[in-house]
Amino acid sequence: MNLVISLSFLLVLLLVTRESVVFSYRTVTTDADPCAATNQRDPRTLRWDQITVLMNGYSEDRIPLLQSIAATYTASPLVSSVLVLWGNPSTPTRTLSQLSHNLSLSSFGSASISLIRQPSSSLNARFLPRSSIRTHAVLICDDDVEMDQKSLEFAFRIWQSNANRLIGVFARSHDVDLVNKEWIYTVHPDKYSIVLTKLMFLKSSYLFEYSCGGGAAMGEMRRIVDEMRNCEDILMNFVVADRINAGPLMVGAERVRDWGDARNDRDDGGARGSRSRVSAVGLSSRKMEHRKRRGKCIREFHRVLGRMPLRYSYGKVVNSVGEQGLCENGGKLVFCDQV
Ligand SMILES: *[C@@H]1O[C@H](CO)[C@@H](O)[C@H](O)[C@H]1NC(C)=O
Repeated sequence: MNLVISLSFLLVLLLVTRESVVFSYRTVTTDADPCAATNQRDPRTLRWDQITVLMNGYSEDRIPLLQSIAATYTASPLVSSVLVLWGNPSTPTRTLSQLSHNLSLSSFGSASISLIRQPSSSLNARFLPRSSIRTHAVLICDDDVEMDQKSLEFAFRIWQSNANRLIGVFARSHDVDLVNKEWIYTVHPDKYSIVLTKLMFLKSSYLFEYSCGGGAAMGEMRRIVDEMRNCEDILMNFVVADRINAGPLMVGAERVRDWGDARNDRDDGGARGSRSRVSAVGLSSRKMEHRKRRGKCIREFHRVLGRMPLRYSYGKVVNSVGEQGLCENGGKLVFCDQV
């Protein structure tokens, strides 16, 4: 009798513990209607002095890396919370419950980490507004990009004094192909008009503009992102540049590690799965293909919008150039601090 009671007690206990893990994972799901007015916090209640990190997760292989990067963010007093947005619909719930549990244990500071299963694999879902965001500043980042603490603080300071701009670390460019007379996606050594979601600061209200604003044209452009399975970052650059008539700002990081492009990995498993990932030829043609597709996105967005809002920016904002005066010392010019 006693044994039966303690056994059933144990069973209940097990069920409760199990349920609480699943429950804590379920509590942070996407808001029912992200665009509902009730989902928009009064901007006056949002903090200016902290950051909400929205980290994209997709690949199960990279979970250990994701976990370590997410934990690193919580070590910064600037970070209010880290939301890991899981975009891979085929990941088993059990894995996510485990990850959620692991993440909750790995937070260093006062910032919390939560795991959110995205409603679909749509890249637009990266930019869904969320009622749990309590800050003006949102850092959009990938699960395989790591930046040092000092550079994070610096980038945030630059954002604070340019809160309407997009701030990024990785920059690209649009341009006109004069031969084919069409917009293309490219990289210029001296100017840029697009910052990538690998690591991008933006004002949280832009999430709402991207996901809920802009009427039929915006809906059509979000549909293009879904169709191309790409270019959500280009579209965000369109949205912001169109609003403020200014390009993004690129900041220099002291140390930034990019462990690989999730989007490219995903493409390999997708429509072009047979493409070799090891041969150099395969790699460069993949890059070329990537550029072509991004160029197509620019052309499509331009067609739908009827104008080209992207604006060029020049130069990179860096923390310190270590300005040095030159002094004469024994007939030679040397740095003054060496005199
Ligand atoms: C969670 O942590 C445990 C123990 O360290 C580990 O064995 C497991 O692989 C982790 N799972 C996930 C999904 O992070």
